[in-house]
Amino acid sequence: MSGALRVEAHAKVNVFLRVLRAREDGYHDLASLVLPISLSDVVTVRPARELRVDVRGSLAGDVPPGGLNLALIAALALAEASAGTLGATIVIEKSIPVAAGLGGGSADAAATLVALNELWGCGLHADALADIGARVGSDLPALLVGGPVLVGGRGQRVEPAKVERLWWVLVPFDFPTRSPEAYRWWDEDGGGTGPSPWSILDAAERGDAETLGPLLFNDLERPVVRRHPEIGEAQRALVHAGALGAVMSGSGPTVLGLARDEEHARAIGRGFPGSIVASGPP
Ligand code: C5P
Repeated sequence: MSGALRVEAHAKVNVFLRVLRAREDGYHDLASLVLPISLSDVVTVRPARELRVDVRGSLAGDVPPGGLNLALIAALALAEASAGTLGATIVIEKSIPVAAGLGGGSADAAATLVALNELWGCGLHADALADIGARVGSDLPALLVGGPVLVGGRGQRVEPAKVERLWWVLVPFDFPTRSPEAYRWWDEDGGGTGPSPWSILDAAERGDAETLGPLLFNDLERPVVRRHPEIGEAQRALVHAGALGAVMSGSGPTVLGLARDEEHARAIGRGFPGSIVASGPP
């Protein structure tokens, strides 16, 4: 076993998210462009007798207590797949808001898989890690890729996509939304969907934020905004402040405003206390 290993766990935003249908297994088939951004947690693993997760930082208190942290579940799944009862201390320094639609817990779990695969010398290849990841959470296969991906199925089908660097203003909220709820609300409400992904993928590949802004969409947004109108208000406020487009990320509640460039993003961000400016890809 080697010494400590440190991996950055990048948050993600959904440039678009289309919910296609409810599946018999309780999940939903979707199509989404998942984009890792510069905002990240840091996951450090080191050898130990037992398996233990320690969450640090000012946001640590937002992580649900009870020990069944997603990173721990990922570590247990990897230990099982490697036919070993292996130990490690996993330290997570949290900077990504929790239960915010930014994939923070999934990013930590994905980084844990990558780090422990090396620390424990499991030697698993990307496909095998993605299979384990998909059992831990639907966002993991996408986040294990480490770059922009087009996601299909319930999240397990991933295809690398090209995206030029884009600048975002993230407006988080002080309440969480949980994905089972957001998808249930979509089941209850139904609702429309956004434009063809091809125009979005084309604009994203060219880094054409002006074209991309009005095309951003998320099918979960309308059902979630119906229960949390402040999300819709933040969206309108971002556009009013000059964002080229604004959309909820994942199952929310964080709202993303797309900016022309870094300077523009920082100027918009100044009007939203607690907002975060990030680029994606990082
Ligand atoms: O896979 P994960 O544990 O992140 O999913 C949490 C919940 O979100 C699922 O139990 C399901 O209710 C919902 N979900 C879904 N369809 C997806 C992903 C998540 O319905 N593709």
